[in-house]
Amino acid sequence: MIFYFSATGNSRHAAKRVAETTDNRTISITNCLKNGRYDFTAEKTETVGFVFPVYNFGLPVTVTDFIRRLNLNCNESYVFTLVTYGGFSGGASKIIKNLLKSKGIKVSAQFSVRMPDTWTPIYDLSDKEKVAETNRKADVKISRISSQIRKKSKGNFDSRKIPFGDKFCGGYDEMRKTSTLSVSEKCIGCGLCANQCPVDAIEVQNGKPAWVKEKCAMCLGCLHRCPKFAIQRGSKTALHGQYVHK
Ligand SMILES: Cc1cc2nc3c(=O)[nH]c(=O)nc-3n(C[C@H](O)[C@H](O)[C@H](O)COP(=O)(O)O)c2cc1C
Ligand code: SF4
Ligand code: SF4
Repeated sequence: MIFYFSATGNSRHAAKRVAETTDNRTISITNCLKNGRYDFTAEKTETVGFVFPVYNFGLPVTVTDFIRRLNLNCNESYVFTLVTYGGFSGGASKIIKNLLKSKGIKVSAQFSVRMPDTWTPIYDLSDKEKVAETNRKADVKISRISSQIRKKSKGNFDSRKIPFGDKFCGGYDEMRKTSTLSVSEKCIGCGLCANQCPVDAIEVQNGKPAWVKEKCAMCLGCLHRCPKFAIQRGSKTALHGQYVHK
């Protein structure tokens, strides 16, 4: 049983690859949040995984919210975490380990894999060959991680953590303000952004998206998945391109 959160497909891809090679199934955290499904006590599983992107050296709010509500029966299970990141995983592995510990869940192993950085207010994903090369290297690493999980290796294998990284993730809350997102006249009112938002922060009103919550997860799924690239955050995202893992 591998729980994953993913806005642009990196973590979903990693979770699916690990699941395939370790004979596990994946469960979308977004679907659980949307359907109010938090009770998995009836399911016994040898392996439990948590796969998600690093946000501001820490956890997406969706993952924190889900784990706080989660009921799991995994005393005998091998529990792993796998974070996908663009540059540094910071304190994400430490934060999730402590969060799971507060729920009585003991983590057996922690992994991380570098993938294209979807924070395009800063990072440029317009060079498709560079992006593809990052994903090729990521696939090699994911294969290695899968075989460690298959062998139930124990330990902290997160190579891009930062000492005290868990102390530097405070800016995320400020970043989550939906007033930083905007929509241009290119919008055709298809509603895809509203449908895929993991926290239901968008409604289509008068043929255009309107942000109906003051804060969201700031996953940038709406920006990267819009068929018209009509959603932006600041002045740089239009130059830095859209990205969704194939
Ligand atoms: C709001 C936000 C914050 C991010 N913060 C970090 C970070 O602190 N460190 C990092 O290396 N990557 C960071 N990233 C990049 C993502 O962790 C990375 O691209 C991840 O693989 C995206 O996963 P997904 O495609 O499954 O959503 C951030 C991305 C977003 C959208
Ligand atoms: S996905 Fe893009 S085109 Fe579709 S409603 Fe949202 S902003 Fe408009
Ligand atoms: S509004 Fe956009 S950036 Fe915010 S959580 Fe929803 S999809 Fe992600």
